[in-house]
Amino acid sequence: MTPSPLADLSAQTSELLSTIASLATLDELTEAEPRLTGKRSLLSTLQKSLGSLEPNARKDAGALLQEARREVQAAFEARRSTLAAAARAESLEADRLDLGDVVTNSVRWPVRAGHPGLVASTQRELEDVFVGMGFTVADGPEVESDWYNFEALNIPPAHPARGLWDTFYVDLGEPETVVLRTHTSPTQVHLMEEAVAKGSLPIHSVMPGRCFRRDTPDARHLATFHQIEGLVVDRGIAFADLAGVIETFTRAYFGPDIASRLRPAFFPFTEPSAEFEVTCTICRGEGCRTCSQTGWIELGGCGMLDPAVLSAVGIDGDEWSGFAFGFGIDRCAQMRHQIPDMRALIDNDTRFLEQFS
Ligand code: PHE
Repeated sequence: MTPSPLADLSAQTSELLSTIASLATLDELTEAEPRLTGKRSLLSTLQKSLGSLEPNARKDAGALLQEARREVQAAFEARRSTLAAAARAESLEADRLDLGDVVTNSVRWPVRAGHPGLVASTQRELEDVFVGMGFTVADGPEVESDWYNFEALNIPPAHPARGLWDTFYVDLGEPETVVLRTHTSPTQVHLMEEAVAKGSLPIHSVMPGRCFRRDTPDARHLATFHQIEGLVVDRGIAFADLAGVIETFTRAYFGPDIASRLRPAFFPFTEPSAEFEVTCTICRGEGCRTCSQTGWIELGGCGMLDPAVLSAVGIDGDEWSGFAFGFGIDRCAQMRHQIPDMRALIDNDTRFLEQFS
């Protein structure tokens, strides 16, 4: 009797299994695949040899071989997934950003901490002064509709005062004209509308923020600048209250040797109106290039709320009165620190910026 071709099957299967277990990488595994499970593998060769057996013996042998194949195939796939998992873990490890080396070594220590810019810190100081005087601080949008920037402030279309506040127009495809606000005064309108809606009058607020004008920068002007607006709406408010707030603010912020003065002026949204000026801190009032030889620097405008504005927002001018002011934050920084040319504020020259850390 010829020996069965499967006489050594179990030893051969164990050998295949241990070969599979010894495959160390996915490359080795791929390379060994035809030898272990492919058409020319040992088990496939044995399969072919079964053809010489008696039908009954062939059936038994076939079942045995099938079982061995399943076992080898399963071991092979298990090995493949183990190796694939290991390869993935390895590549994740290799890709990990080494914080202790790559990043830290590319930065020179010690890193100097940054600090708020001069305009930002000036804004905070101004807010502090006004909060100390009982004002709250409010915020408003930098992009406004024509209504807020002009019309509600008693500046109808084609009013010559619009020339003073020429600005950048924003095309949002809306029928209404949209502008980069030219002053913080539109925030007054928002605040008054809100207080009317909520029935929360009186108002004592300051509103700092960024403004834009189509201006050519010079020693005292920037096209993008900052203002702080003030608004008081209450009962029995008089011009003396406005003058008192301006004077108190000037002494508190600039110190006792800097004076303020109000000069008659015109703004469509206040009546009467005034310009608010302080002694030029560069020349201490002597007259210099920065103040155009006048000894005074205009910080902003102010006045009593115009009845047209009160009625635009639905406030009863018989019951309520008030005042508003608005002045330049950049201008305050300039005067406080005796900066001859305001353009230094936006030059980003660290020799300048570091003096205000
Ligand atoms: N909004 C005015 C300006 O930018 C200043 C101002 C504010 C005047 C409030 C009066 C009242 O020129």
